[in-house]
Amino acid sequence: MNDSWEFTEVWDEDFLRGTEAGPVRKYETVRLPHTCKETPYHYFDESVYQMICGYRRVIRAPESWKDRRVFLTIGAAAHEAEVYLNGESLAVHSCGYTVFTVDMTEYLQTGEDNLLAIRVDSREQLNIPPFGYVIDYMTYGGLYREVWLDVTDQVRIADVFIRPEIPSGERLLQGIPEKMLRAGYTGHVRFEGTVKTELQIDKGETRPEQVKPGSDAERLTIRQTVFCDGQVLVQKTFAPETCSLRERQTVEGSAKALQTELTVPGAQLWDVLSPTLYRMRTELMRDDEMIDCMETAFGFRKAVFGEKGFFLNGRKLKIVGLNRHQSFPYVGYAMPESQQKQDADILRKELGLNAVRTSHYPQSPYFVDRCDEIGLMVFTEIPGWQHIGDDAWKKQALRNTQEMVLQYRNHPSVILWGVRINESADDDEFYKQTNEIAHSLDDTRQTGGVRCHKNSSLLEDVYTYNDFLHDGTNAGCEPKKKVTSDRSKAYMVTEYNGHMFPTKSFDSELHRRDHALRHARVLNDIAQEEDIAGSFGWCFADYNTHRDFGSGDRICYHGVMDMFRNPKQAAAVYASLQEEVPVLEVSSSMDIGEHPTGNQQELYVFTNAEQVRMYKNDRLLKVYEAVNPAFPALKHPPVRIDDFVGDAVAEGENFTKRQAALVKDILNFGAIYGFKHMSPRILAEAGILMQQYRMSFEDAYKLYGKYIGSWGGTATVYRFEAVCGGEAVKSVIKAPAERVCLETEPDHTDLREGHTYDVAAVRIRARDQNGNILPFYQGAVRLETEGPIRIMGPDTAQLRGGMGGTYVKTTGEEGKAVLRLTGEQSEPVEILFRTFRRSVSSDAVLE
Ligand code: GAL
Repeated sequence: MNDSWEFTEVWDEDFLRGTEAGPVRKYETVRLPHTCKETPYHYFDESVYQMICGYRRVIRAPESWKDRRVFLTIGAAAHEAEVYLNGESLAVHSCGYTVFTVDMTEYLQTGEDNLLAIRVDSREQLNIPPFGYVIDYMTYGGLYREVWLDVTDQVRIADVFIRPEIPSGERLLQGIPEKMLRAGYTGHVRFEGTVKTELQIDKGETRPEQVKPGSDAERLTIRQTVFCDGQVLVQKTFAPETCSLRERQTVEGSAKALQTELTVPGAQLWDVLSPTLYRMRTELMRDDEMIDCMETAFGFRKAVFGEKGFFLNGRKLKIVGLNRHQSFPYVGYAMPESQQKQDADILRKELGLNAVRTSHYPQSPYFVDRCDEIGLMVFTEIPGWQHIGDDAWKKQALRNTQEMVLQYRNHPSVILWGVRINESADDDEFYKQTNEIAHSLDDTRQTGGVRCHKNSSLLEDVYTYNDFLHDGTNAGCEPKKKVTSDRSKAYMVTEYNGHMFPTKSFDSELHRRDHALRHARVLNDIAQEEDIAGSFGWCFADYNTHRDFGSGDRICYHGVMDMFRNPKQAAAVYASLQEEVPVLEVSSSMDIGEHPTGNQQELYVFTNAEQVRMYKNDRLLKVYEAVNPAFPALKHPPVRIDDFVGDAVAEGENFTKRQAALVKDILNFGAIYGFKHMSPRILAEAGILMQQYRMSFEDAYKLYGKYIGSWGGTATVYRFEAVCGGEAVKSVIKAPAERVCLETEPDHTDLREGHTYDVAAVRIRARDQNGNILPFYQGAVRLETEGPIRIMGPDTAQLRGGMGGTYVKTTGEEGKAVLRLTGEQSEPVEILFRTFRRSVSSDAVLE
């Protein structure tokens, strides 16, 4: 039910009662997901999205719904919502990050138009998490996820909790080659999987209650079917009265569920490289008629955090992840399915990660669905940021814990619950309760809770800690024993870097390089600590933030990607972790004028290749093995470039072998650092050249000009090749930039309206004639559309650091569309889109 909503920024009685807007006030017609306020890219105040706004629409309830029950489900309302039907208040929900359902049955007038109105409060003075003090991210507002109606029988399935079990890990993985295990590939392992399910059947009383033997319960049966890739694997029917009951503690008291059990022969594991997904269809039958049905994806996997680290399916696995905020430029949280899934794809496929932390709240179910599909593990947590409020506030946090667990516990990708307010102080009484709720509602997962202080009270299973030790000069992380209060429990790093080194895509080259190296150092040092389960860096992408944080323009430049998900240099450190796509990123444009005193400075290549070949004007300078003693634990460490001379001196001058070697060494030192501060080694070498070989400063100067500096001469062209198995799999050419070429990368061009509109993200980059990003290009790109798409945000894309982006969305019309992008210095580019309407309109049913 995502179309035809009326929206007002000012909630009042008229809006609630359905009075027409007068000539002065026009209500806007909007589609969901919707942000209550579109925002500029930066330099705006967080007060702009704080308001009490309203959404309303008519539900035309046909007579045929008379004996039915009707539920309204709201994907997310930021941050407090009150739902009214025909002027009457039905429910209040006080968490901006979880789904909620309202039973409208008693209030809905069948055969009539019913006015549904939702009051949404996005003011930060609300006494609910995450509010109460400062917050380092914007919290936005509105109905920013989808909304739908369920029209059901009097008896319906209220919930399905699937608990797949696998035989003990060690037995399972016996005989699998070590190399495959290390790579995380367990796709060929087969076993007999047990699926235990807990079902809540809601019989229509105000509070869900179990179906008891007798009355119409006797006619009810439950049929469960397990599918994989559309194939039925097993089917079984259960009589509710023969199922045992399982009781679980809730915030309100307790809830009972019916238990069922199925066996899946030849089951396969859900693992990071082979995330086999199954679907369970649960049908509620009355006699032979199916009266309700719920389909749930699930996976067979065992995720265990222990003293010695993290184990997936019995195999030790280092978690390598980043933190993700769910915000986007202009529209805040309001992005539909495709963009939620796209973020998961970027994290997994472009950055090569095996995990993500949904900092600092539960995120779109679409995002987590995609994580299930692609093998990206998820650490999700309750909303909050440092501050713990009063008793009413805590009560809400407990409800949030319950909603988070109930809503995400079927996802195989979710491996850990975060049950503390991010970086809050100890509060044993409070956290005892959040832990209890999580454990009671889900006995298949452990808990963590992110803190930034050492030796704090540990009620969780995993000590999850934000380790900001690394400052560019010291160790990448603390050892476990220095942080945790209980060494027998698991330990994981949940943030590093971030505010320690904000980095813009248009920062100086050396700054961007250092940002990348910091990420590499922390990853290396964590990889060396056997008892650290893994880590999540801060963070995935830059994000808008409150005035107390960020660079003053309301952006925290903490991402390894910019806000449009364009990679900064640091992204290449992560991308080099994966093996599927060749990565070759050179930390410098080789324009020495960018650096103080005009020296090259230390230069790194980020790659997942085995070797790197470097050429200068087609002359091979050196073949580098992709190893680096400074990063012993990284499989693909940054490769340090130290030779700009190769054998040119040895061949070009009439020197002895030793003399040529000394000259080469000194020239390379000069190229990288200059001669102002020579190291003792270089001074000694210079001494030898002067004394033994009678060379003068004059000679050195000439040689430097000939072999290193090339002012005025033909432009130097450097070529780098990533080599695997002796073959160059990727190359990068660095030569003086001659022109600006606009690269546009839409994430998809067939836009399909499903439950609502679809959005394509278009990443825009300015590149030189060799395909290198132009890191100081800040030009504007004019955007124009033709056909059934609209631009979200401004009609100019401003490139920053040579990168930017835009978003286009469907209008509900079908056809061909064009996005034309015209840069200031580049040829216009056209992107062709096709838009498709949804095949079955649920709104048509409503209308
Ligand atoms: C942490 C916090 C994050 C973010 C980060 C920046 O303290 O948990 O939300 O603010 O710092 O580095």
